[in-house]
Amino acid sequence: MRLPIDFIFQQLRPFLFAVDPENAHERMLSAVELVSKFPGLLQFLCWQFREESPRLTTELFGYTLQNPIGLAAGFDKDGRIHPALFALGFGFVEIGTVTPKPQSGNSRPRLFRLVQDLALINRMGFNNQGAWKMAERLVSRTATISADEVEIFNQSTNYPANINSGLLGINIGKNKDTDLDNAEDDYVSALSTLHPFADYFTLNISSPNTDNLRNLQEKEALRSLLVAVCARRDTLERNHLRKTPLMVKLAPDLSQEALENTIQVIQEFSIQGVIATNTTVERPQLNSKNHHETGGLSGKPLQKRSTEMIRSLFQELGPEIPIIGVGGILSGADAYEKIRAGASAVQIYTGLIYQGPGMVRKVKRELSELLKKDAFESVASAVGVDC
Ligand SMILES: Cc1cc2nc3c(=O)[nH]c(=O)nc-3n(C[C@H](O)[C@H](O)[C@H](O)COP(=O)(O)O)c2cc1C
Repeated sequence: MRLPIDFIFQQLRPFLFAVDPENAHERMLSAVELVSKFPGLLQFLCWQFREESPRLTTELFGYTLQNPIGLAAGFDKDGRIHPALFALGFGFVEIGTVTPKPQSGNSRPRLFRLVQDLALINRMGFNNQGAWKMAERLVSRTATISADEVEIFNQSTNYPANINSGLLGINIGKNKDTDLDNAEDDYVSALSTLHPFADYFTLNISSPNTDNLRNLQEKEALRSLLVAVCARRDTLERNHLRKTPLMVKLAPDLSQEALENTIQVIQEFSIQGVIATNTTVERPQLNSKNHHETGGLSGKPLQKRSTEMIRSLFQELGPEIPIIGVGGILSGADAYEKIRAGASAVQIYTGLIYQGPGMVRKVKRELSELLKKDAFESVASAVGVDC
C-alpha cells in the first residue's frame, strides 16, 4: 500500500514551519541519515515514491536519465543523504557546494522562509565540512552500497529502482578566505579530491553569498579559471580513463551582454553543460515579512527570470551543450516550460521545502501527462521546441 505522503506532509508542515528553517533542515538531514542506515527502509522509500514512464527519459552528456528531475545544489551540501534522495525518485542529485577546506559560513540566522511568496532567501555562505570529509563519506558509502544495497535493489522484482541508476553531481566552490585571484587553486583542489566519486562536476561561480564570487563569470576571470580546471580535468581523465563532464552554474542577474560574454568563453573550452540559474539578488514584488533579508532569493519569484535565461542560453548554445534548468519549479507544468525553453533536465530545491518529498513523484506524473498530451515520446524530443 502506498502511504498518502502529501497528506502526511500537509499535516506536519505547520509543526516543521514553526521551527527555524535551518534547524528544521538539519533535523531532517540527521533523521534521513539514520533511516538510510537500513537498506530495507530505502527500498521501501523507492517503492513509495516510484513513478516511471518511458516518456520521462532524457539525455545528459551521453547518459540516459530515467527522468529529468534533479535535486539542486545546497540541499545536501556534504553528501550525507544522497542515496535516500535517489530513493525519492530523483533522476540525478547534485551535492555541495563543497570547498577544499571546511568552513562555517555566515552567521545565523541565514535562511528565511517567505511563505506567502513560495520562496526562500538564504545567505548561507558555503557552510560545509570540506572536500576531504565528503570524499571520506563517499568512499564508505560506495563500499556499503556495492556490498549490499545495490544487490538488493537490482535483484528485487518488487522494487525495480536501481539506487545507482541516477547521476551524482558534485558542486564545487572556493573558500571564503581564498583571494579571487587564486580561486582556480580551490576549484582544482576540490576537483582532484572528489574526482573518483562524481558523474559530473559543477563549477559554482554564481552564489551571491561569497564576496565577489560572481566576478568569476566575467570574461578574463572565467577564462583563467577554465584554463586551470579543464587542464586538471583532462589529466585526471587520462590517468583514470574516466570521463568527467564539467558544468558551469550561472546567476540569473547577468545582463544580456554579460551573459553573451560568458557564453563566448564557455564555448572556447570543453565544457559539457550550463546550469541556469542560481538564486537572485533582485527583489521583485514580495509579500512576506522576510523580504528585506540580504541574500539569494529562490522559488516562485525566480521562475520567470530563470526560464528567460534558459531560452537565451539555448538560442546561443544550441542543442550541443545541455542546459539544466533550475529556479522556481513547483509543478510538472513549470518543469515542462523550462524543458520547452531549452533545458535537457531540471532541478528543484525550494519547491521541495514547501511541498515535501511527494513533490518529485507529482512533478514526474504531471510532466509525463503534458508530454503525452503534446505527443512527445520523450523529454529529449521536447527540449527547446519553444525556441
Ligand atoms: C538554502 C539554499 C542553499 C543553497 N545552496 C547552494 C549551494 O551551496 N550551491 C549552489 O550552487 N546553489 C545553492 N543554492 C541554489 C539552488 O541550487 C538553486 O539554484 C536555487 O535555489 C533556485 O532553485 P529553486 O527555486 O528550485 O530553489 C541554494 C539554495 C537555497 C535555497
